[in-house]
Amino acid sequence: MSETNEVTQVEMKYGKDRPAAKHPLLIEDLSLRDGHQSLFATRGRTEDMIPVAEKMDEIGFWAVEVWGGATFDTMHRFLGEDPWERLRTLKRYFKKTPFSMLLRGQNLVGYRNYADDVAKLFVKKTADNGMEIFRTFDALNDYRNFETVVPVIKECGAHFQGCICYTLTEPRLGGEVYNLEYYIRKAKELEDMGADSICIKDMAGLMAPYDAYKLVKALKENVKPLIHLHSHFTSGMSPMTHFKAIEAGVDIIDTCLTPYAYRTSHAALEPFVMSLLGTNRDTGFDITALADINEILEKEVLPKYKHLLDDSKVSVIDINVLLHQTPGGMLSNLVNQLKEMDALDKIDEVYRQLPRVRKELGQVPLVTPTSQIVGIQTVNNVLFDTPEERYKMVTAQVKDLCYGLYGKTSVPIDPEVQKKALKGYERGEAPITCRPAQVLEPELERAKSEIGSLAMDDEDLITYALFPVTGKKFLRQKYGKEKVPDSVKPITLEDVARQNQMIERVKKGELVERVKMESAPEKSEYVRTFNVFVEGEYFEVGVDEVGGAPVITYAAPAPAAPAAAPAPAPAATPAPAAPAPKPAPAAPAPKPAPAVKEAPAPAASAGTPVKAPMPGMVIKYEKKVGDMVNEGETVVVIEAMKMENALPAPVSGVIKAVTYSSGDSVAKGDVLAIIE
Ligand code: CO
Repeated sequence: MSETNEVTQVEMKYGKDRPAAKHPLLIEDLSLRDGHQSLFATRGRTEDMIPVAEKMDEIGFWAVEVWGGATFDTMHRFLGEDPWERLRTLKRYFKKTPFSMLLRGQNLVGYRNYADDVAKLFVKKTADNGMEIFRTFDALNDYRNFETVVPVIKECGAHFQGCICYTLTEPRLGGEVYNLEYYIRKAKELEDMGADSICIKDMAGLMAPYDAYKLVKALKENVKPLIHLHSHFTSGMSPMTHFKAIEAGVDIIDTCLTPYAYRTSHAALEPFVMSLLGTNRDTGFDITALADINEILEKEVLPKYKHLLDDSKVSVIDINVLLHQTPGGMLSNLVNQLKEMDALDKIDEVYRQLPRVRKELGQVPLVTPTSQIVGIQTVNNVLFDTPEERYKMVTAQVKDLCYGLYGKTSVPIDPEVQKKALKGYERGEAPITCRPAQVLEPELERAKSEIGSLAMDDEDLITYALFPVTGKKFLRQKYGKEKVPDSVKPITLEDVARQNQMIERVKKGELVERVKMESAPEKSEYVRTFNVFVEGEYFEVGVDEVGGAPVITYAAPAPAAPAAAPAPAPAATPAPAAPAPKPAPAAPAPKPAPAVKEAPAPAASAGTPVKAPMPGMVIKYEKKVGDMVNEGETVVVIEAMKMENALPAPVSGVIKAVTYSSGDSVAKGDVLAIIE
């Protein structure tokens, strides 16, 4: 018998004046974090949250999630916003509803384990800035990665919500690794750590309704903390899954307001409020108040984000999730990565190899960052492996995983893969078994001396410590040392109206020769806007470099060559043994070919280029001009899809030229260094 079906009230009202339910379902709203992270690439701006903040505060949510996950990264990197400032600003509007954040355990809001000193200061400052509920997860469900942050959360008087990442290896709950016993065991571990509530984090939307019922019932019987369900909509099961969880007695569920709901996000709140009206799980929420909020969002906010919605498909459900059990975000990352490398035709091969790579890497749950780690490594294997050699290009993160730097995997990592990955690994070739952060040197003092007076307070220091390259860039912009690029500026409703007008004119045929909308490629992050005036007509034109991200700076390696006037690509064909660096294949105009002009001696070889195998950003050079390098030694590290790839020297020799610097974007095929 289900307790939910009882209708306890005779009169059912829309408003808040109806009698309270016996066991009301508690709701956490995710619109302002996971909602826009899932649907709008985390591009939600603080100014667009303010119009609904006070109204949301009146609804009666158990909590609102406003921070953490990818917000910290995206805000400082792409929005020109200080993540700390968002917390303080929103706090002025949300006076009653507690704030919740997603904390990636020892990864904090980044993609690797940070040292204990960084983790402690981060939690402390986050609580100081108004955070009250720390939803804490670890991608491997290795709770040793909570040991540093939890005591600080508790000391700050905040709520520690421990997560169990929900993952499967079989189509449904069960099998050898991720079965009911596994989840009960994990819940007990969290209870023992002092969890105030336990969240089942189903990031991929894999949880089936009857499994949810079984799981929630079992957890309610075995542990005392409140049980909270976080289940993405991606596969389409989540509203059913939530309903069965409600019937099994789940205490709290996560939903989004309608404009932020469905697709890879979460189920919408409003249908739950209506479905439970008058039952003993009635939320008590005012449906008309929710409708008001939706109206503001629809009219004043979401038009500015609509273009970010992935509308490449008609379906709102991703059937691939049911087939491949991979999170929606990870799938789109894989597709983007392959697209950028002109290898989208390999997607089926990636799907095929993914379970194998995952198994070899310890059957890890697929959640940030492990989903990216497994996904990108699979892409690398598909693209670069040869019949004789697998794992030819191992990312730095896979090496770290094999070393034990993320924690203990659910099943042991394949020993051969582990050995190969750790060959020459800087921390040592033998993996560790201790708590990962134990081997990390403190990082704060070094960060402090590196960033110096550019960090005005601890918050700035943390921004830099977490994201040294982009964080520093942001701080320089924040304090006026660098111009804020146009690409980070918000678009306005007027911009949207102008665009719509333009589209109308195109539809009417007035601009037909100039614009072919159907064949327009996707806009990249780096699109730059120009005003163009043609005989009194005004056009706003976005310019995006064909063939990948534009190169922000070009550092000519030749000391004599004037940087402002790059020489044209050399006409002379270089010695056949050493092919000249070529511009990116799709580049419309010849780019200055780095370094070649520096080697004029016709008899000598022009050197061997170290090329970017994928588009990305230069993290650091391990070698500088004049350094000796052995074949296979790392020359430069580039970041692609948030994974670091150490690029080895193709030959032994001396570094003749280094063509970029840390923070520069590079396209596939760009020459990063020359060895001679
Ligand atoms: Co989520």
